[in-house]
Amino acid sequence: MRVAVSGSSGFVGSALCASLSADGHEVVRLVRREATDVLEAQWDPARGHLDAGVLTGVEAVVNLSGAGVGDRRWSRSYRRIIRESRVRSTALLASAIAQLPEPPRVFVSASGIALYGPDRDAEPLDEDSAPGDGFLAALCEEWEQAAAPAKAAGVAVCHPRFGIVMDRSGGALGAMLPLFSWGLGGALGGGHQFWSPISLHDTVRALRFLIEEHGCVGPYNLTVPEPVSNAEFSRILAAQLRRPRLLPVPGVALQLALGAYADEVLGSLFVLPRRLLQAGFTFDHPAAWSIVRAAV
Ligand SMILES: NC(=O)c1ccc[n+]([C@@H]2O[C@H](COP(=O)([O-])OP(=O)(O)OC[C@H]3O[C@@H](n4cnc5c(N)ncnc54)[C@H](OP(=O)(O)O)[C@@H]3O)[C@@H](O)[C@H]2O)c1
Repeated sequence: MRVAVSGSSGFVGSALCASLSADGHEVVRLVRREATDVLEAQWDPARGHLDAGVLTGVEAVVNLSGAGVGDRRWSRSYRRIIRESRVRSTALLASAIAQLPEPPRVFVSASGIALYGPDRDAEPLDEDSAPGDGFLAALCEEWEQAAAPAKAAGVAVCHPRFGIVMDRSGGALGAMLPLFSWGLGGALGGGHQFWSPISLHDTVRALRFLIEEHGCVGPYNLTVPEPVSNAEFSRILAAQLRRPRLLPVPGVALQLALGAYADEVLGSLFVLPRRLLQAGFTFDHPAAWSIVRAAV
């Protein structure tokens, strides 16, 4: 299969591309710098430049672009970058897809469980749950809606709503591990909040499931079937790291250490992957302990 991927240099994108290439699929990487080989195509989402021809013959397009939400503090100007880097790149890809005489079969365009809001306590949330409040929730809605031209062109549009993707190589866990190695990390900011993580390994498998021919369309929560409280996650991680006495981290220390990631890990979201399970996907790491064992 020929697959085009944007955001291919990122935490999820590089793992997805490696997995697809290892299985013999042809991966065309959309890159914002100059292309350096035949399997790269340059685009400029900020300026709206994309030659739709580079998507000719592509069966699936996977859009993972977006300025890092945890990279910097959220000033007003950085919030604009966070929003525009997602909405504009999605809209550009969707309109390029819609122009093609033979569009790809499927367009998988990233979203996040932040759509349900920063904090929903212990409310079970699935893909039918109402969106929440706040900057990221509104952004996720707009991000998903930006794919509308591809949908109107008859393409199966899937929105993986990523939970907290876990691997030691990056993301929230990569940012948190230094805290744990300093002996901190027990019960972040109180510990009562629910987390809805997913291993990087299962994230890649789920993305591949969405682009394979399982008839998938619409939003899919990419989160484990068994969300976990932060206190329990910390206990499991501490045991795995053989550091049984981690000190609790007050929210304010976490804000300083993790920047904007702190907002993601301090809120409570009990998200269930109902549609992924109904479609027949099975998790290799369905629970926190299996994610931690695989990631650390
Ligand atoms: N990881 C998670 O836990 C998580 C959770 C929820 C949602 N998500 C979303 O899923 C997507 C992939 O996640 P990730 O963890 O792989 O993110 P990532 O590591 O930050 O990678 C995102 C990629 O987007 C591209 N990018 C960076 N700045 C950009 C800009 N200003 N305009 C357009 N493209 C830009 C870069 O790729 P190039 O340089 O190759 O263009 C970058 O490698 C992101 O949109 C992220 O928000 C991730």
